[in-house]
Amino acid sequence: MNGTLIILFGATGELSRRKLIPALYRLIVEKKLHKVAFLFTGREQSSVESLFDAVQPEIDSIDQEIWQFMIQRSIYCAVDVSNAESYNVLYDLVITQEQQWHTSNRLVYCAVASDFFCSITRGIVNASIVEYKNINSNPWHHIVYEKPFGKDKQSAHAINTCIASTLAEHQVFRIDHYLTKEIVNNIALIRFTNCIFEPLWNNTYIDYVEIILSETLPISSKSTYYDTYGALRDVVQNHMLQLLALIAMEAPIKLTGEYIRDKKANVLSHVSFVDGILGQYEGYRKDINRPASETETFAALELAINNKRWAGVPFFLRTGKCLQKKETVINIMFKSVTCLLTKQCPPAANMLSIRVAPDATFSLTLNAKNPAEIDTLIPIAMEYCHSCRFILSPSHEYEFLLQEVMRGEQSVSVRFDEIEHAWHIIDSIYAKKLPIYIYKQNTIGPAELNQFYIPLYKKTLP
Ligand code: BG6
Repeated sequence: MNGTLIILFGATGELSRRKLIPALYRLIVEKKLHKVAFLFTGREQSSVESLFDAVQPEIDSIDQEIWQFMIQRSIYCAVDVSNAESYNVLYDLVITQEQQWHTSNRLVYCAVASDFFCSITRGIVNASIVEYKNINSNPWHHIVYEKPFGKDKQSAHAINTCIASTLAEHQVFRIDHYLTKEIVNNIALIRFTNCIFEPLWNNTYIDYVEIILSETLPISSKSTYYDTYGALRDVVQNHMLQLLALIAMEAPIKLTGEYIRDKKANVLSHVSFVDGILGQYEGYRKDINRPASETETFAALELAINNKRWAGVPFFLRTGKCLQKKETVINIMFKSVTCLLTKQCPPAANMLSIRVAPDATFSLTLNAKNPAEIDTLIPIAMEYCHSCRFILSPSHEYEFLLQEVMRGEQSVSVRFDEIEHAWHIIDSIYAKKLPIYIYKQNTIGPAELNQFYIPLYKKTLP
């Protein structure tokens, strides 16, 4: 088997430190990555030693032998990605690494802002670091682009055109790490393999759907990325709309890559913005040292899906930084039944909650008899904890993602039409120029949220 050289752009960034390098380490520990070498690049002058020192706290109990194995096979090179000459220097390092460690596959990972995607792609292609390869070619050259792919529909289009003019689609991975989460992979399976759900999955039975991605941490002062993107571009355009698409798509012919993507793209093309508010947490401007920043760190949106299945069903999306709770959850609220009881009506409608984080669980809320009384009900929950039953390492998502990219499996990659539709939705929200309300840290968001919530939606508020 050919070995693989991993060329990482953005190696000194937070994503590489917290997720990517720990995932590579775990893959070696788990003996899933054998013949490998690394070429790390970043804007700053640094060294392999300081790079690994920065990663170390992110990994519990390091195996020194493997750690040294990685260090020995690594080179760090500071690059200016906008300078064509940098890529010739990199090319020489690629050859040095390949000759020394006998690798021939190349995986380029762009863990940088999308502004740099086109210049990196041009640079590595012109310098022959990545060559156009036919499908199933051996060795292979693959390139990964972190989300968000672009800043709006127009820029995404320009980046895609730039990439498509030099590389084949099977070499390109526009990734969204949410698609590698076990429970997210489970959504379509749960829907389409359980007879009890799919017949009810429409506007006759579902009242509304709520998708929450709530985070407790503030933005790090080092993050130059976040302030030019904001919550809508950072997580709504990708993670949250991908969750919405998986929940709302029509049934694919088969539960595999291209069929699922066709259906996701189709449903995203029918989504429109109805209402919403934006917010910024108190202290954000100080955190990022930009006293006049108008970047939103919070968004609560009502979206509609204009098709037969979902007409009239609101989809509420809520996300924010520095909130009270760290959780990602999808709540599917069913309609209430007609009250047939004489004493009391069912206290709550049924709700299916798919919790993505912190733990991966499914919970179905039902009404059941209160043993203490005749004809009275209490809400009960049937719960299943996926993450208790199947224990996965913290870097599991990126381990899985890297393995899939190395296998050339594109199910972790988002197709460009999905990305385009998602940007269309986000662009339409920015065009509304919604006011940005300041909210207190450790709350559920701006106080103005109350004016936006419809009464129904309030039912699931903490
Ligand atoms: C990233 C965003 O894509 O996803 C971050 O850039 C966010 O801002 C993160 O914190 C959330 O991912 P997870 O897996 O921790 O829910």
